[in-house]
Amino acid sequence: MVSLLCLVALLFPLSATSSAGFDVQPFRVDLGHEVAHMKALVQNTRLPDKPLYPEASIEFGMELDVLRDLQTKWLNDYDWAKQEATLNELPQFTVTIEGQSVHFVHAKSEEPDAIPMLLLHGWSGSFQEFLPVVKPLTQSWTSPNGTRISFDVIVPSLPGFIFSSPPPQNWTNADTARIFNKLMVNVLGYSTYSLHGTDWGSSVGYILYSTFNTTVRAAHFNLLPFIAPDPQSLNITLTDIEKVTVQRSLDFRATGLAYNMEQAFKPNTIGLALYDNPIGQLSWIGSNILLCKVRPPALGPRPRCSPTRPSLTMVSLYTLTHTFQSSVWIYEQNPNGFSADYVKPATDAPMGYSLFEYELQFTPRDYVEKVAGKLVSYKEHDFGGHFAGLDNPPALVEDLRELGLYFGS
Ligand SMILES: *[C@@H]1O[C@H](CO)[C@@H](O)[C@H](O)[C@H]1NC(C)=O
Ligand SMILES: *[C@@H]1O[C@H](CO)[C@@H](O)[C@H](O)[C@H]1NC(C)=O
Ligand SMILES: *[C@@H]1O[C@H](CO)[C@@H](O)[C@H](O)[C@H]1NC(C)=O
Ligand SMILES: *[C@@H]1O[C@H](CO)[C@@H](O)[C@H](O)[C@H]1NC(C)=O
Repeated sequence: MVSLLCLVALLFPLSATSSAGFDVQPFRVDLGHEVAHMKALVQNTRLPDKPLYPEASIEFGMELDVLRDLQTKWLNDYDWAKQEATLNELPQFTVTIEGQSVHFVHAKSEEPDAIPMLLLHGWSGSFQEFLPVVKPLTQSWTSPNGTRISFDVIVPSLPGFIFSSPPPQNWTNADTARIFNKLMVNVLGYSTYSLHGTDWGSSVGYILYSTFNTTVRAAHFNLLPFIAPDPQSLNITLTDIEKVTVQRSLDFRATGLAYNMEQAFKPNTIGLALYDNPIGQLSWIGSNILLCKVRPPALGPRPRCSPTRPSLTMVSLYTLTHTFQSSVWIYEQNPNGFSADYVKPATDAPMGYSLFEYELQFTPRDYVEKVAGKLVSYKEHDFGGHFAGLDNPPALVEDLRELGLYFGS
């Protein structure tokens, strides 16, 4: 055991973590022993021979043909070992903070002045959704005015998700923010850092941004934890990209929130129903995130997100770690996680916002300005949505690098 740890330390000298009083352990994804069980469940799940109502499209939830194709792909054309090897290219660790075991990626740049960047995922994502952006962010980039930017990238798993232990029942995103700040400052030794958040990660990230105003010195979001005004009530001229996002927001508010209510009010019902049910998880998660490529209602035929959605790895991580139930509790634990009221945060740290066309919510620039300490950029991209790290990694990398120019200012 000792020699294995020494070997790991030799292989990843740049990832050695300073840890006054914290027991940081190297971590590798090792779920091979769960795969036979998952595959048997996938194989033995019976689906109907034909759709009940052939005219009922994705607007009525998961489509049979899509689910069956994914079931076939999961069985015949999906190699977990290969996915696991890819995940293990990222240096990973665990550490116990306030009794919670926290799993995190810590990929360091080779540049001595790299900016620490905390990437925060949500539901139904995981640390895996940032896989395509981690390496590029660690690499050096030179801005048009000659400033060199690179990042040390830290991607923690939210408590209760995948490899982080489930928190106590009364845990909230403010608790997660506090322990993640300890991870950055006390465990890893960064006195200041930047962050990016999406979904629940934007709630955690915004708490960090507005509360830890001396340590969080730049923040980027592609969703904010506020319920912006009804887009139809706004008297503004919309760009073509914004028109799509507005329609998407209206559809989501009208018919897309059922999963959210179930998870907020009856987390154990859906949590146990799908606990050991990969095809069930795929239908539940996939129906939420497939909309962008399968006949988006009223938005025309062009796909708005990655053709590989939903990623079977995204779902496999929940299935293989048996954390679907503990992940959905975040909705119950944070009933006001997305608020209609905004407050100007007590920070002067720069904020960047990127609107990816197929996002769940349209937040106009004027509104983002109100909830930012200092808004330094508002950008729009015509491809991608809620999972920007998977959908449109080059755009996310570009926007985070540009934010890096303002770090510490
Ligand atoms: C939350 O629950 C833990 C035990 O699960 C308990 O120790 C703690 O006091 C509780 N905190 C609050 C604020 O109720
Ligand atoms: C909407 O904006 C236009 C142009 O700025 C203005 O002429 C019009 O009065 C506004 N309408 C309302 C209802 O505010
Ligand atoms: C940071 O927060 C503290 C406490 O809320 C506040 O007193 C201080 O003014 C804030 N700093 C900035 C720059 O807003
Ligand atoms: C480059 O631009 C950034 C952001 O505007 C600024 O902070 C920095 O000082 C500039 N660097 C140079 C060398 O002009």
